[in-house]
Amino acid sequence: MIPIAKPLISDEEKRAVVEVLDSGMIASGSVVREFEKEFAAYIGTDACVTTTSGTTALEVGLRALGIGPGDKVLTTPFSFIASTNAIIYTGAEPVFGDVGRRTFNLTADSIERALKEDPSIRTVLIVHLFGQPCNMDKIMPVVEKYDLTLVEDCAQAHGAQWNGKMIGTFGKTGCFSFYPTKNMTTGEGGAIVTSDPDVAKNCSLLINHGMEVRYHHDRIGYNYRMTNLAAAIGRCQLKKLDEFNRIRIETAELYNREITNPLVEVPHVLPGAKHVFHQYTVKVSGGRREDFIEHLTENGVGHGIFYPLTIPEQKCYEGRNFASGSGVADILKNQVVSIPVHPSLSEADKETVVRVINDYK
Ligand SMILES: Cc1ncc(COP(=O)(O)O)c(C=O)c1O
Repeated sequence: MIPIAKPLISDEEKRAVVEVLDSGMIASGSVVREFEKEFAAYIGTDACVTTTSGTTALEVGLRALGIGPGDKVLTTPFSFIASTNAIIYTGAEPVFGDVGRRTFNLTADSIERALKEDPSIRTVLIVHLFGQPCNMDKIMPVVEKYDLTLVEDCAQAHGAQWNGKMIGTFGKTGCFSFYPTKNMTTGEGGAIVTSDPDVAKNCSLLINHGMEVRYHHDRIGYNYRMTNLAAAIGRCQLKKLDEFNRIRIETAELYNREITNPLVEVPHVLPGAKHVFHQYTVKVSGGRREDFIEHLTENGVGHGIFYPLTIPEQKCYEGRNFASGSGVADILKNQVVSIPVHPSLSEADKETVVRVINDYK
């Protein structure tokens, strides 16, 4: 089976981890500080604070802005659940907009609609899903018009850009995940990027038990610290990220050209977007998605359904009665299928993927 994801780890990462092990300094230390400097420089922000996961990065990225009980945060109904759980962890209330049919991303129109209905919403958490940036030409004017605080979930969009500007630099905070299936990995891990020094300081305190001076805890925080082991992997991966993304994009372009089956709608890339194809997600409509998946399985092509349910309808939120504007997301959840696009694919793998999809009747 051609897997849907496969991290690319080479001898360089192995050597870097062994070096950290040999140093005896395996928890958070100088390797983490170096990785943070390099990641901030790559994204183009003044600061980066690493964490244990994308989920904790999102929680801290919100908390560091003072978001908590009594606040409402508008977000997308179509994402991994961590995007919404992070809001809930802070004590704030999530409110859901809707996504575009072709972009899968939260639309500016749905943000504005929600704000007109409920002007007490002051924060928007956007998710650049599958590696495609949200349409920032449309979203930023709404953010400015209503003087909103913008937070970006960039867990699937390392190196993505909108009109040449790096994703993660539009919001007050940008939050990344380094889970093994992502465009780059640290094993588990996450990062918050920001150019606001106060926010950066809040993040640093929150991830380390509110401690600036050893054993003096000025506020209640967490242990969300990244280890030197993870950062050592991250430093190697960051150097390769642009090349990983180049291969993903090249593969996606090949698929877009060569998948010609009229039953399968290939992804749409917005003009102005550098889509880094964390996932290559096609749509199969007419109630044929399950049949299509069976065909992929029978022919050895791995796949994923991201996501089979919208966030507001997840069982864990039963009884919360979330206000939901998820009309489009409700349709997409029954159509989406992601197919392998990761940089470990061989030319033969890609040919197989195209052939199997074009053979589907
Ligand atoms: C959009 C999105 N947000 C947040 C996360 C959470 O990241 P992590 O799994 O590193 O906690 C993920 C990870 O899958 C994600 O895809």
